[in-house]
Amino acid sequence: MSQLDTDILIIGAGMSGLNFAIRLQQLYPHSSYRIVESASDLGGTWSVNTYPGCGCDVASHFYSFSFALKPDWTQKFALQREILEYFRDVAERYGVTRHIEYESAVQKATWDENYGVWVVEILDKKTGVSRLVRSRVVVSAVGALSIPKKCEIQGVAEFKGRLFHSARWDHDFDWANKEVVVIGNGCSATQFVPILSNGSTKTNYIVIRKAAKKVTQFSRQPHWIAERPNPVYSSLFKWSMRYIPLAMRLYRFWLYADMEKDFFGFYLSTGGKIRRDLTNTRIEYMKRTAPVKYHAALTPATEIGCKRKVNDTDYFDCLHNDNMELVWDDPVTTITETGVRTKSGRELYADAIILANGFETQKVLYPLSSEIRGEGGVSLDEHWDKLSNGLPQAYYGTCVSSFPNFFVMMGPNTTTGHLSVIYSTECQVNFCLRVLKPILQRRSPLLSRTPQLDSVCVTPEAEKRDNAWIQNLSKDLVWSSGCTSWYIDNKSGRNTMLYPDWQFKYWWRSVFVPTSRDFVYRRSVKDVGGSGPGEKRNRRSSWNGVVVLASVVGAVGLGTGIAFGSVKISGDIDDLLKDILSELKGVRESVLGSLKSVL
Ligand SMILES: Cc1cc2nc3c(=O)[nH]c(=O)nc-3n(C[C@H](O)[C@H](O)[C@H](O)COP(=O)(O)OP(=O)(O)OC[C@H]3O[C@@H](n4cnc5c(N)ncnc54)[C@H](O)[C@@H]3O)c2cc1C
Ligand SMILES: NC(=O)c1ccc[n+]([C@@H]2O[C@H](COP(=O)([O-])OP(=O)(O)OC[C@H]3O[C@@H](n4cnc5c(N)ncnc54)[C@H](OP(=O)(O)O)[C@@H]3O)[C@@H](O)[C@H]2O)c1
Repeated sequence: MSQLDTDILIIGAGMSGLNFAIRLQQLYPHSSYRIVESASDLGGTWSVNTYPGCGCDVASHFYSFSFALKPDWTQKFALQREILEYFRDVAERYGVTRHIEYESAVQKATWDENYGVWVVEILDKKTGVSRLVRSRVVVSAVGALSIPKKCEIQGVAEFKGRLFHSARWDHDFDWANKEVVVIGNGCSATQFVPILSNGSTKTNYIVIRKAAKKVTQFSRQPHWIAERPNPVYSSLFKWSMRYIPLAMRLYRFWLYADMEKDFFGFYLSTGGKIRRDLTNTRIEYMKRTAPVKYHAALTPATEIGCKRKVNDTDYFDCLHNDNMELVWDDPVTTITETGVRTKSGRELYADAIILANGFETQKVLYPLSSEIRGEGGVSLDEHWDKLSNGLPQAYYGTCVSSFPNFFVMMGPNTTTGHLSVIYSTECQVNFCLRVLKPILQRRSPLLSRTPQLDSVCVTPEAEKRDNAWIQNLSKDLVWSSGCTSWYIDNKSGRNTMLYPDWQFKYWWRSVFVPTSRDFVYRRSVKDVGGSGPGEKRNRRSSWNGVVVLASVVGAVGLGTGIAFGSVKISGDIDDLLKDILSELKGVRESVLGSLKSVL
């Protein structure tokens, strides 16, 4: 086997990929990593979703990294451009950008058991040429709400006007005075429909556009829509966040606690009163704000909390506009050359049809799931076919048995219906870096003579146990009350997306990982050569002890030299000092590790 190219390969430069990279370089600075990104920009969701009004529905002070707080968010729920700027800024500040290979798509990854490495095939989209990269660890950060659902309405290919998905917004399309049909009524549609109907401003869209002539929105099932003011933060507030010690942390904690408490309402057995109160509040708000003719259409028959929450972004208000029509009882059956035909036979002309019909969420890692092959050449799809009727599952939503050194961000049962995905991803990253510690840590050869381990895999029993627990707990949660949503596999009713417990417990699990019970660590039978730090680590291990001793002696001498001004620090000496410090850290960790296992 030829060289190891990198210690860690991260697929995707969205929020999760950046999160993993930053924490990795903070905890294991000697590990090499690459981020392979198929798009030409970082940010994932926030770079791709550019529809008018796109923004987050978790307050930005909580929808941001705990290690990179931002005191000057302009408003409570930031819009797409500000969020994307935030991720760009964080990536730049933490030196991650130079590790990203843009327009490079991972096509395949195969586990080589002999050498304990992943052999990853990457397509350079600019040249059309593929290459192989050998990495010790692969982290999938490809997202879960990234592949737009196909339009399954018959005749879609016949349409002569513009047809696009909300997550692939056609910015050349000027909706002013045009007739637009919108299919769907989830979070995405609720954000952009009011802007089509009212016209855009520079604040909620990149260009100012007049109102559409007609917006006809087709819905299937209503959502419980919540009132959600979006105050702009004052200068004083931003100043307080920046300069008053702990103010921003406390505000963040308050936001967290306020959202986390919603979990009480998710219990089918005990959350009934909370859900009834919330239902009454929503109905009262809807009746106060939306036109009477739509009250029935806007009242869901499902339990509140069963589908993902949708916030009102002037949506109810815009339903009063003369150019707005909501159709809920006469679905589109055919797309024609000029528009749509409904079940009742109504023909509607459309200059554009905008699909806001959601994402492929039940196909975790699709289309890579058939191309990622672990032990025995088995693909993720084949693994799930065998173990869980084709539905995705993982231990802690992150590790899959038979797929050593492979970690899935935003994996099965990791998302939440009430908190921030950034929070859960941070927990996942902490979890992974703990699991990877025996592989990534630099150990002192003075204290440990055993060879460095190079692979880790969750046991099948642990994976099975965790998923039985998830499905068991899900039975008493509101998501199993009978609605359809992107959390649930419609056929089986199985919860594939949500973590069925409090999010603070998810964090707790990321701190106390039962590695010795649930994971198996190995040393591969063959050594991989390489130019990366992983290789450097292996090659040096036999004489590292000598280096440590020499370094300590050298450091004392060097320190004296620097103190007395006879030695000037150059790049090389700086590197040497870093090495010495890193080795000493290794000694300390080994000592503490031994003590811990004794005590
Ligand atoms: C419109 C919208 C609004 C949302 N708002 C919220 C919110 O308010 N709060 C919340 O908690 N969550 C929200 N979410 C969920 C959101 O997806 C996550 O919060 C988060 O941004 C996901 O980040 P990610 O990095 O895991 O995935 P993504 O952002 O989807 O990034 C995945 C990246 O992987 C790349 N990639 C994929 N396949 C490959 C491949 N084969 N090779 C190389 N690169 C690849 C993609 O190009 C992309 O850049 C929202 C989702 C959407 C769609
Ligand atoms: N921060 C935010 O505010 C924000 C914004 C956008 C997205 N998001 C995230 O992304 C997720 C997906 O949001 P989304 O709005 O893109 O998708 P979604 O929540 O899956 O909503 C899609 C909607 O389209 C409807 N639909 C599908 N096909 C239809 C058809 N043929 N005719 C009529 N209606 C049809 C669905 O109806 P049924 O319910 O009947 O299936 C569903 O209500 C959200 O849940 C959220 O997590 C967040």
